[in-house]
Amino acid sequence: MSDNIIIITGFSGTGKSRVGRAVAQLLGWEFVDTDAEVVRRAGKPISRIFRDEGEDAFRRMEREALQQAVSGGQRRVVATGAGAIMNSVSLDIMDKSGFLVCLEARPETIYQRLRQGQESTDELEIRPLLQGTDPLTRIRQLKAERQPAYAQARWTVHTDALSVEEVAQEVARAWRRASGKVAPTEHPFFGAPELAATVEASSGSCPLLVGWGLLPRLGELLHHAGIHGPLYVVTDDRVGARYMRAVQRSLQAAEFEAHSFTFPNGEKSKSLEMATRLYAWLAHRHAQRGHTLVALGGGVVGDLTGFVAATYNRGMGFVQVPTSMAAMMDASIGGKTAVNLPEAKNLVGAFYQPRLVVADVAALKTLPPRETMEGWAEAIKHGLILDAGLFRTFEEQADQLLALESELTTEVIRRSMAIKARVVSEDERETTGYRTLLNYGHTIGHGLEAATEYGTFLHGEGVSIGMMGAATIGQRMGVTPKDVVERQEAILRKFNLPVACPGVDLERVEAAMALDKKAEGASMRWVLLEGMGRAVVRGDVPQELVRQVLRELAE
Ligand SMILES: NC(=O)c1ccc[n+]([C@@H]2O[C@H](COP(=O)([O-])OP(=O)(O)OC[C@H]3O[C@@H](n4cnc5c(N)ncnc54)[C@H](O)[C@@H]3O)[C@@H](O)[C@H]2O)c1
Ligand SMILES: [Zn+2]
Repeated sequence: MSDNIIIITGFSGTGKSRVGRAVAQLLGWEFVDTDAEVVRRAGKPISRIFRDEGEDAFRRMEREALQQAVSGGQRRVVATGAGAIMNSVSLDIMDKSGFLVCLEARPETIYQRLRQGQESTDELEIRPLLQGTDPLTRIRQLKAERQPAYAQARWTVHTDALSVEEVAQEVARAWRRASGKVAPTEHPFFGAPELAATVEASSGSCPLLVGWGLLPRLGELLHHAGIHGPLYVVTDDRVGARYMRAVQRSLQAAEFEAHSFTFPNGEKSKSLEMATRLYAWLAHRHAQRGHTLVALGGGVVGDLTGFVAATYNRGMGFVQVPTSMAAMMDASIGGKTAVNLPEAKNLVGAFYQPRLVVADVAALKTLPPRETMEGWAEAIKHGLILDAGLFRTFEEQADQLLALESELTTEVIRRSMAIKARVVSEDERETTGYRTLLNYGHTIGHGLEAATEYGTFLHGEGVSIGMMGAATIGQRMGVTPKDVVERQEAILRKFNLPVACPGVDLERVEAAMALDKKAEGASMRWVLLEGMGRAVVRGDVPQELVRQVLRELAE
């Protein structure tokens, strides 16, 4: 049985879909509804499948959807149709592949909920149940018939008196107990509109809050997260000049004792020297273990502050408040913290998860255009590797995104951050290979950045060119379809991102790529696209092809 799959069964009207979705949100997992999958694949509602093809055909499709759902990856919550469990093969799949939870409710509750139309996916059963002369008795009978099957579940939640959120909390708690996971504190933001996702790390869970105008509410949000005691807000001069006042006002209003530390903006500040100055500053203020460091700014602020939080007093409280696109999309999520050495970037660091991430999308309005664009490169990447729907949004609503239209931008950033959260939760320490997918475009991108001594390309610009390189490599190897390459190039151009690097010194790029590979201690592994939203890791890319593609990029 997989530790990281939760399967939800139960009678009609017990709330399987809504609870499943809520559990997935709570744990930062993916959600799959097998009924919805069957409908999507058949291209017609379940009632029509029944009418046209019969119940047996439906049960077969249901079984296939279930099999696919449990084998298509980890960290998934799967909601099943009410009757699926009566099929012995399906029951066997459920029992073997995950933590099987049954949602229960009294017949009266079920009748009430069905009448109010609260549960719609089980349309098939609802109508006949409600149409008879004595629906309550019919519900009782059918439920009694199924009881032995439902009894196979590892855990049962009685939902009568609980809200969807409460049921979801129960399911998550039961799963944690059963799988021996560290019991994290109860999720304080569950059901809150700002909650985009939760990173589930071995050290506990970290809610990601995303919204337009969250900075003036920071004090309130920290309070809500259960953070007390003195705060040490670290920022750089550019971000500080714009946002420190609003942040301080909000922290004061929430009655926090808050100190602030500002350093010169730029990558140079991500150094051991600056870390040392921060340590001294904390020592003077008698900072203690239970106190919290707040990183307000871009990736430089986040990486440096996180590193100090991880090491000072062997670990302080830590909150990320990313203000740049790169920090929201990438640096603030996943717990990687570091400072640079003269020898190389990010050479000294630690994995250290923040307790909370608060991203105020409105702050992007003051980010310089070039920094905004490079941040979009990572968001576009998330669509390319894992979310075709997100990519389509980029294609269809590019202009609104380029104008930072508030609602859409917030939604896209929320979704993109959720993708990173999911990947990181799955592979916190980059050991299973799943996190490698995030490196799409980075092999060449890193090489370009390093070869030009970080003076020519912003990270996202290098990644953009690198994604074109990887796409071309994929296409030549027969892995990446032509239209995916074209769609990728069109969107990168639309967002003013570079798709080539004319004149760049190829020898230095190759040397930097080789060095990067050595640092990783692995053979060169390439992330390629098999289709839109589908990435794979390949170890069999011929060196000669890489060289050829690099030459073309540099032409
Ligand atoms: N830890 C990770 O997983 C991870 C991931 C990606 C990148 N990084 C690191 O992040 C850094 C790059 O991130 P970055 O681009 O945010 O760098 P940055 O922090 O230097 O920010 C870029 C510039 O934008 C300014 N800025 C930030 N927010 C602003 C706002 N709202 N309005 C106006 N100006 C604003 C900053 O002052 C800075 O001058 C690198 O050091 C990189 O190594 C870390
Ligand atoms: Zn990146």
